[in-house]
Amino acid sequence: MFKFNKIDPAFVQQLISICGSEYVITDVEQAKPYASDETERLVYMPEVVVKPVSAKEISEILRLCNKHNIPLTPRGAGTGLSGGALPVYGGVLLSMERFNKIKEIDERNLQATVEPGVINQVFQEEVMKLGLFYPPDPASKGSCFLGGNVAESSGGPRCVKYGTTKDYILNLEVVLPTGEIIMTGANTLKNSTGYNLTQLMVGSEGTLGIVTKIVVRLIPLPKHDLLMLVPFRSLDEACKAVSEVFRRGFTPSALELMERDALDWVSRYVDSTVVKIADDIQAHLLIEVDGNDIDVLMKEMEMISDLVSGFNIDEILFAESYAQKQELWKLRRKINEAVTSNAISKEQDTVVPRAELPQLVKGVKDIGKKYNFRSVCYGHAGDGNLHIRFIKDEMPDELWHGDHIKKAIAELFTLCYQLGGTISGEHGIGLVQQSFMPIVFSEKALELQRQIKKTFDPNMILNPGKMFY
Ligand code: LAC
Ligand code: ZN
Repeated sequence: MFKFNKIDPAFVQQLISICGSEYVITDVEQAKPYASDETERLVYMPEVVVKPVSAKEISEILRLCNKHNIPLTPRGAGTGLSGGALPVYGGVLLSMERFNKIKEIDERNLQATVEPGVINQVFQEEVMKLGLFYPPDPASKGSCFLGGNVAESSGGPRCVKYGTTKDYILNLEVVLPTGEIIMTGANTLKNSTGYNLTQLMVGSEGTLGIVTKIVVRLIPLPKHDLLMLVPFRSLDEACKAVSEVFRRGFTPSALELMERDALDWVSRYVDSTVVKIADDIQAHLLIEVDGNDIDVLMKEMEMISDLVSGFNIDEILFAESYAQKQELWKLRRKINEAVTSNAISKEQDTVVPRAELPQLVKGVKDIGKKYNFRSVCYGHAGDGNLHIRFIKDEMPDELWHGDHIKKAIAELFTLCYQLGGTISGEHGIGLVQQSFMPIVFSEKALELQRQIKKTFDPNMILNPGKMFY
């Protein structure tokens, strides 16, 4: 659809004069790690990789790309699950890895200013030392960049109580595709000034600009947390219990679902024996509460366990030590890795209003029967956000890569829409979900988004081939 120029040696020379030769890579072997992310084993080679260190350098690179009609794809840590960082048209791959500084932690205002290449967990640990908390915690927190989190509006288990990335971003420095550098908002908790450019950037998947500085808000770190794992004899019962917990007035700091296969595979993958899964168990809920008063939390845990005992469950495992909590969380966080290493699969990041979860799960299994595949579900049930992996097994390649599986995904997404949900809760649309956007948006709503893109990026050079056609 787009027609771009190929990169020639003169263009590479100009990149070198901006960033320095050490930070411009044309060698194929060295460029290979930048050709894939965590999405379905896809590979798209960039023509050149650049590693700038300042907004000014990025501005010059973007002006150069505009002048020569060269596409540019920004990349964080490459942990994305929708192909957003894949350079599908070749061109320049712009890695943000050198933007790795925490510039300021402002304890007076409970705010911090960070660069986008800071690893989520590194930042979390720094603010924790000061008794502060940055809650968004994607499963990949040990390696993903905060900039990537902004691009996807990433979530994670704790978002059910504390909100996702978007709820923590106050202000952004952005290099526009045309090279200008802007601030999107103010470092304030309230802001009714003009259109909300900050939130337009959050979740825009690197299609509207390149974030070079992030101002986030922080909250005080809760002093205690308690964790329990509840085994259910049916997946349907586990899903029904989720909305009951909230309806009865509890706000857990995490409420995660793991279908039997997910927990089974990950236990083998990380070689853990902490959970013994009885033969008749179909799903587990991992439930955490946090706060400052341990007695209140104990009481809350007891009340939640009484509540879930009204469902068809086996014995609850209460995490007894810090080490056991860590082990249970490791199991949960490593599921994605375990499933992808165990089987060829396609992941769907479905989200519905949480009380509709039982219907969503029933629909998934019915669609699996109709189209002849197994599936495994896990994820942030408290948010109604379920990661559903279709497993290829023996399905012939032409069905797996062709219309057959696309129809199954479209049916699943149509169900999400009918249940009041949508097709991505936290992984974004990127490359792999864009053909499904018309399921959830009218043509007018899509056209408005295309016009916004054009306003920011008239030559369509920034991350082309993503989000919508
Ligand atoms: C998770 C990632 C896939 O929740 O979002 O495991
Ligand atoms: Zn997730």
